[in-house]
Amino acid sequence: MPTDFAPTDLRCNYLISPLAIRAGSPSFSWTSAAPGALERQHSYQVLVASDEQWLTQDVGNAWDSGKREGEAGGDVLYEGHPIEPLGRYFWKVRIWADSGQPSAWSAPATFETGIGGSEAWTASWISWDEHAVAFEPASEEGPVDQVALGLAPAPYLRREFDVAGDLREARLYVTARGLYEAHLNGIRVGSAVLTPGWTDYAMRLQYQAFDVAAMLAPGTNAIGVLLGDGWYCGYFGSRPKRSGAHYGDHPELLAQLHLRYRNGSSEWVVTDKSWKANWGAILHADPLMGEYQYSGLHPTGWDTAPFDDRRWFRVVARAHDGTAIVADPGPPIRVNERLAPRALTAVGMGKVIVDFGQNLTGWLRITVDSKGGETIRVRHGEMLDPDGCLYVANLRSARQTDEFLTSGGTEVFEPHFTWHGFRYVEVDGYPGTLTPEKISAQVVHSELAATGTFECSDPVVNQLHSNIDWGLRGNFISVPTDCPQRDERLGWLGDAQIFARTAMYHRDVLAFFDKWLDDVMDAQLDSGAFTDMAPSLGVGWSGAPGWGDAGVIVPWTLYKMYGTLRPAARCYGAMSKWMDFISGGNRDHLRTQGLGNNYGDWLAPDGDQTPRELLATAYWAYDATLMSDMARALGRDEDALHYYALASSIAAAFVEAFVDDDGRVVSDSQTAYALALFMNLLPSDLYARATAHLVEAIRSRQWHLSTGFFGTGYLLPALSDNGYTDAAYRLLNQETFPSWRYPIRQGATTIWERWDGWTEARGFQSPHMNSFNHYALGSVGEWLFRYVAGIDQHPGGVGFERVLLRPHPGPSLSWARATFRSPRGPIMSSWSRDGDALLLDVSIPPNVTASVHLPSTDPTNARDDTGSQPVGVEEFCGDHGMREAIFEVGPGDYHLVGEYAVPGPTEPDEDGS
Ligand code: BGC
Repeated sequence: MPTDFAPTDLRCNYLISPLAIRAGSPSFSWTSAAPGALERQHSYQVLVASDEQWLTQDVGNAWDSGKREGEAGGDVLYEGHPIEPLGRYFWKVRIWADSGQPSAWSAPATFETGIGGSEAWTASWISWDEHAVAFEPASEEGPVDQVALGLAPAPYLRREFDVAGDLREARLYVTARGLYEAHLNGIRVGSAVLTPGWTDYAMRLQYQAFDVAAMLAPGTNAIGVLLGDGWYCGYFGSRPKRSGAHYGDHPELLAQLHLRYRNGSSEWVVTDKSWKANWGAILHADPLMGEYQYSGLHPTGWDTAPFDDRRWFRVVARAHDGTAIVADPGPPIRVNERLAPRALTAVGMGKVIVDFGQNLTGWLRITVDSKGGETIRVRHGEMLDPDGCLYVANLRSARQTDEFLTSGGTEVFEPHFTWHGFRYVEVDGYPGTLTPEKISAQVVHSELAATGTFECSDPVVNQLHSNIDWGLRGNFISVPTDCPQRDERLGWLGDAQIFARTAMYHRDVLAFFDKWLDDVMDAQLDSGAFTDMAPSLGVGWSGAPGWGDAGVIVPWTLYKMYGTLRPAARCYGAMSKWMDFISGGNRDHLRTQGLGNNYGDWLAPDGDQTPRELLATAYWAYDATLMSDMARALGRDEDALHYYALASSIAAAFVEAFVDDDGRVVSDSQTAYALALFMNLLPSDLYARATAHLVEAIRSRQWHLSTGFFGTGYLLPALSDNGYTDAAYRLLNQETFPSWRYPIRQGATTIWERWDGWTEARGFQSPHMNSFNHYALGSVGEWLFRYVAGIDQHPGGVGFERVLLRPHPGPSLSWARATFRSPRGPIMSSWSRDGDALLLDVSIPPNVTASVHLPSTDPTNARDDTGSQPVGVEEFCGDHGMREAIFEVGPGDYHLVGEYAVPGPTEPDEDGS
C-alpha cells in the first residue's frame, strides 16, 4: 500500500485558514488522502501551535490531541489551552491506518481567532453628517419620482495614517450597517463583494478580516471605504422602504486596522472622528433599484496619500452600542465567473438587447469610449416580450437599472452595491457601436466549491441538472433566497429546507448553511415559533408548516450529509423550543393550530389539493423523527426516546385521520402520498397499496406532476423507494406541463418558480409572482444523484461513512455518471447499458464501506472485475422482474457487470402503451 496518505483539505470551522472564527472551540476536519492509498483511518493526532516554529518541531504548544482513536469525517473539537483573541495558530494532523501505519504530517494550516466579541470594538461607528453633506440631485421637470426620493449617494470615507516601521502583520477588521468596500493606498482590499453580508443587524453584525500587510508601507498610508445602503437601509423585500421594515436610514462603518511591528509593538487605526467624508461618483446604489454613477465626480486619489481632503466633511462618530459582532462564519460573496454575451440585437431607438444565454445573478461590466456626458442605461430582465423587448413586469417594484454617466475617454463601469437577476440586458444610449468584447456578465454568489457532477445520455436531463445548479448559484447570496430579481430576495425557510439536500450534492454549502442557521435562530420568536423567513425583517410571520420546520430539517440534513453535529448541537435548544411550540398547541397529535400563514404545498398546479393539516402533521412527525436522530447522536438518550415516541404518536394520528385501510390517503393527491411514503408515516403493510394509489393518481393525470414546492421534492424518491422507478422516469420524461422538461423546452436555464411561468397557451403567468429563478422545484436534483446515479447512504448512515451505491437505470437512459466529493473523499458512480449487460464503475474513497447494488435480471451471474460474487440478492418490488446483486466493498475502484433487461412499465396506460 502506498504510504502517501497524509491528510489534505484541512479546515477549521469548515473554512480554509480563516482569519477570524466565531467564539468557542474551533473545530478541525480534513480528508484522508487519495483513493487507493488508505483503507481506513484508525486514529489521528492534531497539533496546534501558537508559532510555526513549534509545529516544525512537531510540538503542539497550544494543543496536542495525542494519538486518539477516531474515524475520519465530522469534526474534532479543540481542547487545548484557552485561545486568545488576535491569536494566530498553526495546526497539522497525521493519521494512522487500520494496519497501524502512520501517515506523514499534513502540510500546516492556520486559523486566527479574530478581534473578539463586541467589547473588543473600541472604534466608533462613523457616517457622514447628512445635514453637512447637502447633496442636491439635479432636478428634472415632471412628476416627482418617489423611489428616487429614497435614494442617496454613497458615502466615501477616508483618513491617512502612519505606519511607523517594519510590519510583521496587519489585519483589517471591518463591518458596516449597510455594505462596505474598503481600499488601502488605492487598491481594493480583498475580492469579496456585498460585504458584510446580511444578518438581522439589530441582533448580530458580522465582520470580515483581511490580511493587508502587503498593501501597506512605512510612512503615510491611506484607507478609504465606500458605503452602500444594501440590506440595511436600501429598498428591500416587498415592503416599502419607509414602512419601518428596515434597520436604519443611512449606512455606517466600523473598522479597526491592527498593525503589528517586527519590534513587537502594535497599534490600531480605527474609525473615529478623525475620518473625513464626501460623496463621489456613486450617486445612488440600491439592491433593488440599481446603481447610478457619474465618473466625472470620482474623487481621484481619495484612497491614497497624500490627498487634499480639507474640503471634505467631518464625520459623525458614535460609540458601539453593544450589538453582538461576530466573525463572519460563512463563505465570502464574490464574482465567481464572467460570461460573454451570446447575442446582441438592436431593437431600435439606440437600444441593444444583450442575451447572455444564461439566467444568472450579478451585474454587467461595460467598457465605453466616449466624448463624455453620455448616459448609458442598463436594464436587466430574465425574459423577453413576444416582440423581443425586455420583459420586466415580473420584477414588480424592483427596477434593476444601472446608469453610467461618462466623463470621456475609455472607461470601465460596473456597480458596487446592487445585484440583479437577469439573462438579458437592455443597453440604451451606448455611444458608438456596442460589441461583445465591451460587455460581460459578472456572476455573483457566495463562494461554494462544486462537489457534485452529473451527466447522462439525455441532454434535457443534463440541462435540468445545470438549471438546478444555476438556481443555487443565483440564490445563495449570504442567505438562501427565494429569487434574485423581483422586490423579494428573502431567506424563505420553506424553499431552503426542501432544496437543502440537493444543494449539498451540488456544492459545499456547510459553512453557508451554518451561518444561515444563526439567522434562523436569531429570528425565532419567544413562543418558540420559527419564522417563515430569516432574517425575518421584523415581519413576524411564523409557524408555517414546511417553513418553520426548516429549523429542524436543515441542521439534520447537515448532519446527514456532512457527518457534523456542530450545527445540531448549537441549535438544539432552539429546535426543542420549536418542538414544544408545536406540541403545546396540538395535544391530539394532529397539527391544526399555530400554523401561521399556512401556505400548504405552495404553488401546486391545482391549488389546495393537499389538505394543509395533512401536510402540517406530516412535517411534525418528520421533525420528531429527525429530532430523535439528532438527540441520540448528541447523547441525549431521554430526548431521543421522547421524540421517537412522539413521532410514532403523530404517525398514528396521521394514519387515523388521513389514511384508510386500503392505504388511500385523503385527497388522493400526489403530495399527500409522497409525504406519507417519504416520511415513513404508514404501517408497514400499507406501503405497497399506498404506492399503487399514488401511481394511479399520477397516471390519471397522464403522467404529469401535480405537486407544489414540497411534494415535488419527495415524489420521485418516494416512488423509487417503493419500487416504482419507472413511474418516476415517466414523470421526469414528461414533455408537457406541468413537468420539469416543459420549461426546458421553452429555453429555461434556471428553475422556474411555477410550472406554468410561461405557456404556449397563456404566455406569462401573473407578473405578481412569476420568478424564472427560484430553486425550490429543483429539489429533484437529489433524486438524480441518489437514485439515477445511485450515490446514497445507508438509512442510518451519516457523512457517507456507509455508502449505498444503488443506481436506478431508467428505460430512457443508456448511461449516467455522477461524482460527489463527500466529506470522506470523492465517490463516483457510472453505469451504462450495453446490449443485455449493465456495466457499473464505482469509486469508493478511504474510510468508507459501500453496499453496491447492481440491478440485474440474474443476480447470481453478476461479477465484479476481481471475480468476487455478490453477497446477497435483493428482490426489488414494483419494477417488473427487477432484482439486484449486492456487493459489499471497501475503498477502491470497481468494475461490475451483470445481465440486465430494461423493466417494462409498472402500469400500462389506457391505450396499452
Ligand atoms: C416566495 C416563496 C416563499 C413564499 C411563501 C413567495 O413570495 O417567493 O418562494 O416561500 O412566498 O409562501
